[in-house]
Amino acid sequence: MEKKLAEYKCDTNEALSLKLVRFPEDVDDDGTTFHPEYSHQLFGDDEVAFGYKGLQIQLFYTAGNLSTLFKVKYSLKVTDTFDCVEPDDIEGKIRGIIPAGFTSNTDDFVSLLEKEANFKPFGTLLHTYTVHNEEAGELTYQIHKADITCPGFQEYHERLQTFLMWFIETASFIDSDDDRWDFFLVFEKYNKDGETLYATVGYMTVYNYYVYPDKTRPRVSQMLILPPFQGEGHGAQLLEAVHRFYCGLPKVQDITAEDPSENYVKLRDFVLSKLCQSLPAFAVDKLPLGFSDEMVKEAQDKLKINKVWYHSAVNYHLISTLMHCEGIQPYEITEPLGVFVQKNQRELAKMKKCLRPEELVSHMGQMDTRTQHEELEKSYQIIVEDYRRIIERLASQA
Ligand SMILES: CC(C)(COP(=O)(O)OP(=O)(O)OC[C@H]1O[C@@H](n2cnc3c(N)ncnc32)[C@H](O)[C@@H]1OP(=O)(O)O)[C@@H](O)C(=O)NCCC(=O)NCCS
Repeated sequence: MEKKLAEYKCDTNEALSLKLVRFPEDVDDDGTTFHPEYSHQLFGDDEVAFGYKGLQIQLFYTAGNLSTLFKVKYSLKVTDTFDCVEPDDIEGKIRGIIPAGFTSNTDDFVSLLEKEANFKPFGTLLHTYTVHNEEAGELTYQIHKADITCPGFQEYHERLQTFLMWFIETASFIDSDDDRWDFFLVFEKYNKDGETLYATVGYMTVYNYYVYPDKTRPRVSQMLILPPFQGEGHGAQLLEAVHRFYCGLPKVQDITAEDPSENYVKLRDFVLSKLCQSLPAFAVDKLPLGFSDEMVKEAQDKLKINKVWYHSAVNYHLISTLMHCEGIQPYEITEPLGVFVQKNQRELAKMKKCLRPEELVSHMGQMDTRTQHEELEKSYQIIVEDYRRIIERLASQA
């Protein structure tokens, strides 16, 4: 019986095909398909759907407006109740997260592509940049800031946020009605039959918290660059544009992030270290002198960097400066940051053993901020030592 049951199980990350469609021929082109990284929020921790053989779930979107095609196909489905196990309600689960108004007819979906020429980016233009692509040449991208009052945006955002379920492990949908949300969107300009069209590339949501008496603290909530566009620098462009936008607002105290994931922290270190390079206190010749109050002040005043992040960004800045020194050997740089992460994990494991879950939550929060700050400062000292030693060795060889 177990063997028979297994025949009716499908890996939902494989079964679900996603697509961003620009041209009718994209619909049947497997090269434009991508799959979720996660589907556990809908299909359970083992990411398996039961009751079907050859299950295929299609969630295709028009490239700009994200008009949706939703189809479920399979070769066999268990008909009667099967050893007291019913087939999973695939349609119901997916309908629970995608907004109404989708089509299940491929021809209707293809005809919606004609309306894509009417789709224009929401909100105000913040930043334009170009990226060189091997095949397509120079491509132009735009970052826009929108809010919930932009006509048509709420419906578009409901379609866009469905992608979070598939690419962020702990994703949840936001209550976009709240006017404290800011939305930052990235679009690619492309040409179709001589017309300029816009394709959705990714986005970020930021919540403006109030800080007594008259300041705000924007907190980055979610950020997603859609998979076909990842690794091309769009995440860095988006985060930098968002930082620059809030830095220009006098009422902003500093910029924070909600429960930042490892990917987000890596991207943030990359962007902040780039932004720090332009500040006099972070000039390369000042770095070996150690962490200074001047750095803290400049990072806070000019970049509105939250204090927990300084050391992380400075460490990254130092390491990348070192990496670009000629003659440097990678093994010469010790790994205090790696050690810090391991140590932090050991501390957490120890705590988990002796604390009740409700105590753990508050201890973790406190420990994270306090130890991160202290440990990053220690690791900074070690990196500075490495830096001095290497510079001296290189100078003695010159
Ligand atoms: C994380 C994410 C936003 C990054 O966007 P991206 O456009 O792919 O990143 P970029 O190409 O702009 O990266 C710029 C630099 O940041 C650093 N970086 C970004 N993501 C990284 C990662 N996952 N690991 C290590 N470094 C990373 C790298 O230094 C990179 O430069 P390089 O490619 O020359 O090494 C994107 O991959 C994504 O949406 N992932 C899924 C959802 C997610 O994890 N969101 C964040 C938490 S809410």
